[in-house]
Amino acid sequence: MARTEQDWYAWHAPYDRLDSVETGRLEHVQEAISATLDAAPPGRLSAVSACSGQARDLLPVLIDHPRGRDIDALLIELEPLNASFLHGALGSTALTSVEVLVADAGAAASYAGHVPADLLLMCGVFANIDLKAALRTIGRLDELVAPAGSVVWTTYGDSIDDADDVLAAFAAAGFAPVSLVWAADRSWLVSVHRFDGESRPWSDEGVLFAFRPSPEL
Ligand SMILES: C[S@@+](CC[C@H](N)C(=O)[O-])C[C@H]1O[C@@H](n2cnc3c(N)ncnc32)[C@H](O)[C@@H]1O
Repeated sequence: MARTEQDWYAWHAPYDRLDSVETGRLEHVQEAISATLDAAPPGRLSAVSACSGQARDLLPVLIDHPRGRDIDALLIELEPLNASFLHGALGSTALTSVEVLVADAGAAASYAGHVPADLLLMCGVFANIDLKAALRTIGRLDELVAPAGSVVWTTYGDSIDDADDVLAAFAAAGFAPVSLVWAADRSWLVSVHRFDGESRPWSDEGVLFAFRPSPEL
């Protein structure tokens, strides 16, 4: 069954349960973002979250972390209900440099003016695209990530079988692993990769990925 817009809103409900697998994974993502900010150079930083959903990962860190006010963030999310959630959540914070863009994060054009970023979040993306799209996306990360910038990403569901190929693609694209956290049963992976290469000029042409019709939870 293809997901409806309402489904992608409801997809976040397990994050509200302290004992859910998703909340356990989310805590590792938040720790990964926090550790990345701990190590970031002084000055303003840019962050982009592709398929941000309700940004349960990035927003709490921006609110709590001492560097949170130094971040100019773009949240790219296709589902308008999630965008409404984001606007509501942002309205109750003192954050003023977070932009919500209702757009297709699979379209290169959606990143206009915000890349290369110091921090790119791709959480839940590889879990919902096929390996071919994952490899194509990783092959263009040198346009999206600044030198010494970081990618925080997750995968799970059936796509966990592609994790070794995805990790190899990151290495081939000039990204070094900073941290890899696997679930005890290896059902999910939370990873941080640092870009050790030189950025290529961003092109607004083309498609990075499209979600599979049958998504992963
Ligand atoms: C698996 S959820 C991940 C949400 C969040 N990144 C997280 O890990 O908690 C995927 C999100 O991507 C959104 N989405 C799906 N296809 C998209 C696309 N092409 N561009 C932008 N957002 C998309 C969905 O609406 C959903 O909120």
